Amino acid sequence: MINRRRLLTVGGLTAGGVVGGVLLLPPGPKAASGPGTAEHAVHIPGLTPVAGTRTASPTVTPFSRRMPVPAELTPRRRDGVDVYQIPIKAAETEILAGHPAAVRTYGGSFIGPTIRAKTGTPVRVTFANQLDVPANVHLHGGHVPQNSDGHPMDTIAPGQSRNYDYPNSQQGATLWYHDHSHHLEAENCYKGLHGFYIIDDPAEAGLGLPTGEFDVPIMLRDVQLDANGALVWPSIPPDRTTILANGVITPNFPVAARKYRFRLLNAGNESILRLKLGGLQMTQIASDGGLLSAPVTRTEIVLGSAERVDIVVDFSQQPIGSKFVLQDATGPVLRFDVTRTAVDRSRVPARLRALPALRTATVERDVTMRFDLSGPEPIGLVNERPYDPDRIDFRIKRGTTEIWRITNTDTEFGIPHTFHMHLEQFRVLDRDGAPPGLDDAGRKDTVFVNAGETVRVQVTFTEFLGKYAFHCHFTDHSAIGMMAQMEIVA
Ligand code: C2O
Ligand code: CU
Repeated sequence: MINRRRLLTVGGLTAGGVVGGVLLLPPGPKAASGPGTAEHAVHIPGLTPVAGTRTASPTVTPFSRRMPVPAELTPRRRDGVDVYQIPIKAAETEILAGHPAAVRTYGGSFIGPTIRAKTGTPVRVTFANQLDVPANVHLHGGHVPQNSDGHPMDTIAPGQSRNYDYPNSQQGATLWYHDHSHHLEAENCYKGLHGFYIIDDPAEAGLGLPTGEFDVPIMLRDVQLDANGALVWPSIPPDRTTILANGVITPNFPVAARKYRFRLLNAGNESILRLKLGGLQMTQIASDGGLLSAPVTRTEIVLGSAERVDIVVDFSQQPIGSKFVLQDATGPVLRFDVTRTAVDRSRVPARLRALPALRTATVERDVTMRFDLSGPEPIGLVNERPYDPDRIDFRIKRGTTEIWRITNTDTEFGIPHTFHMHLEQFRVLDRDGAPPGLDDAGRKDTVFVNAGETVRVQVTFTEFLGKYAFHCHFTDHSAIGMMAQMEIVA
């Protein structure tokens, strides 16, 4: 049973530190070892809020600013390998118009530049860390060699740089890149170390899906802002009441009366979005790892931290001047304004891309995720142990197909978690024994697991050897231990 008094005074904080059932604390020695010195915000639902300590983000007039689309980076060279250089550096952004906020960035913008890769063409990115803290880069959803995976201990020290080689041997998908530095990932991601990495697949070019300016990545994430529009950190999820679409609070996005492909990513540290598009159909065509076998009409999409969906929205029947609001359960997120007509030769075919037949699994494993709340500080546990970069939790023989049974054992306080595996895309087999829902469809690398739930996934380990992480993708949780690692061996 949790000792409430200790919770209230942990981390040198008085009762004001526990807010809305949430605990603020620095990482403890037990949480794991490493170079990080960040403070962490851990959300422990179920505790009573302390009155008068909530701080609301400033409000703005909704839909008054236009949603930007993150710039696509042009390679410095293209001779069989697309070569990029991206500095990791401090910058300022205006989340609140007219109020510069300090952020940590890839390439100088709050949402890093989009890298457009192509299946079959490798990419090399040299990241130079100009911050005064360690940072690194994990290509989330990427099938990449270990030395380019952004292992938590493979950080780039301030003043250093590192090459990351991405083979792009996988099919087309909406990936993203973000920081994964041991203990620092929650803070670094929160402060802006995130961007899109889109793999276009020549094999999918004939499908006729919307492309070019009609293919729009949209990063959704929550933040807590102070009265001056600066990011608050440490910050606890209930106080992150502001949702940004591509870095702007409830923006508008002018669209032509035609079909669009929107690539939606939830890049929030610890967040679950329930998305609806008022009055219009959302046709889901892809999940984390690429196209679904067939399009699916969705009325609501639940998107946990790090998950992606690609949807097609057809505005062609909508009159100029009509407006459609993308809503989360907490309120409006973004408004699409139909402002012009356009020719539209794009289509959504009835069959997209077949998923490979599941192989026969020969190994089964259990993964549990929960917090240890018995000590002075919460510790994230996977299989009852906090992350230890020197420990191999699972040794896996290359070529094996496995079934992992992932259980969220945090039932006492009903704390939700998400499960993310590096290196391979998996398929969800069932959820509490029942067939997977629409949010579990297709190739997945991240899956939501509610308190008490068990999700079984199947995965085949191909090609690459070495150490890769798996963890809760609420980075507030992984940063204090809710992570483990596997080693793929020959
Ligand atoms: Cu998106 Cu291990 O992370
Ligand atoms: Cu978690």
